[in-house]
Amino acid sequence: MPNAVLTVNKHISEICDIDFFVSKKGIYLYPVDLEKEAFFLKLIQNDKRLVIKLDKSTMPKITSSLKDFMLRFAEDLALKLNGNIEHHNLNINRKTDYSLFDNYEIKTQAINKTSWVSELCNKDRLNLEIGMGSGEFLTNEAKTRKNECFIGVEVLNNDFYIALRRFNNAKLDNIKAVYYDARAILDKFESNSIDNIYLNFPEPWFRAKRLKHSILTARVAKKIERILKVGGRFNILTDNHPFALSSCVMLENSTKLKSLFNRPYIITNENIKTKYEKKWIKYQRTIYKLVYTKDKKSEPIKPISLRFPIKIKNLNSLVKDGYVFKVLGLYKNTKGQQIVELTLGYGKNPQHIFFSFKDGYIDILPQSNFIVNYDFLNALAIND
Ligand SMILES: C[S@@+](CC[C@H](N)C(=O)[O-])C[C@H]1O[C@@H](n2cnc3c(N)ncnc32)[C@H](O)[C@@H]1O
Repeated sequence: MPNAVLTVNKHISEICDIDFFVSKKGIYLYPVDLEKEAFFLKLIQNDKRLVIKLDKSTMPKITSSLKDFMLRFAEDLALKLNGNIEHHNLNINRKTDYSLFDNYEIKTQAINKTSWVSELCNKDRLNLEIGMGSGEFLTNEAKTRKNECFIGVEVLNNDFYIALRRFNNAKLDNIKAVYYDARAILDKFESNSIDNIYLNFPEPWFRAKRLKHSILTARVAKKIERILKVGGRFNILTDNHPFALSSCVMLENSTKLKSLFNRPYIITNENIKTKYEKKWIKYQRTIYKLVYTKDKKSEPIKPISLRFPIKIKNLNSLVKDGYVFKVLGLYKNTKGQQIVELTLGYGKNPQHIFFSFKDGYIDILPQSNFIVNYDFLNALAIND
């Protein structure tokens, strides 16, 4: 993560202005809203050592202008605090091409609008890849299946950017990508709307005891089942036998999806040429393929929408029926304005969001990055 470490001779509280927010624990929060990106810096001072780091929880993309801003900010603070920068990792190796984001990214703010899929896809067939890595598979599919739409989701900053570059080099206009946790966006698709959902090599280091951390839980599988079309397919490739096996058992127990084969999975030489497939082929590992199809229509769900500001009863952390409403921090500036840092959602994978907080209401900031899904709504409801 981008960061800078300073040795300083003054305390940050001596130079704090209205732009800095501070928590009771003495953690400083600095909101940044640049032309192309909005993010938070967190500052922690221990005696003469001041660490400035990018807060990664709201998933800012790490661009050249973000790094440039952070370096100038660190230099400025070093000057004001009579110190110097000890080390940093803010050198710019390549200038970000923002047109890639403009052309290919779907932001969470757009996904929160109910009509987002129809606005980006005017074709009959829709495909989704969860964990697309650097986009090799989707690029090849989108190139050969021009009459279909593709959406790729990825949480790794570097891979996401490489994927966008790949789409652009291939001059694709039937593909979009989301930089966020794929599990959070599944509720944002209509029932019976997707032809194929792909999960290629999702769990490289999977062990049976890691089952509860797997991306493919029964809850996720049920969401996938709902959004697949009748006849649609859930396609999994994995080199990991425990994962293949546990996924089959879970899909058969938790959904009505049926294996396309006369057994739960097959051994395959797929050759989709992704980074991980190439790696496992080199190691001569066996690759397993699971394809599950849907034969019964799912009930429609109500489109999810939410109006801000939202009244919050109190800022106590709560857990109920697996839903989590947790307050991670409350930050105040010199004018008494407040920012609250929350996790909202289900189980071990809630969303991590910053909101403004005023008179008992939370409201959206330029840096708020989140998806309003059912887990989010249920987590908010436990605070009612
Ligand atoms: C082992 S890699 C496989 C990448 C690619 N599919 C391939 O075959 O090379 C798994 C990928 O899934 C991504 N991933 C894991 N959990 C995710 C999530 N919840 N949402 C979106 N992407 C996720 C990881 O960042 C990683 O890039």
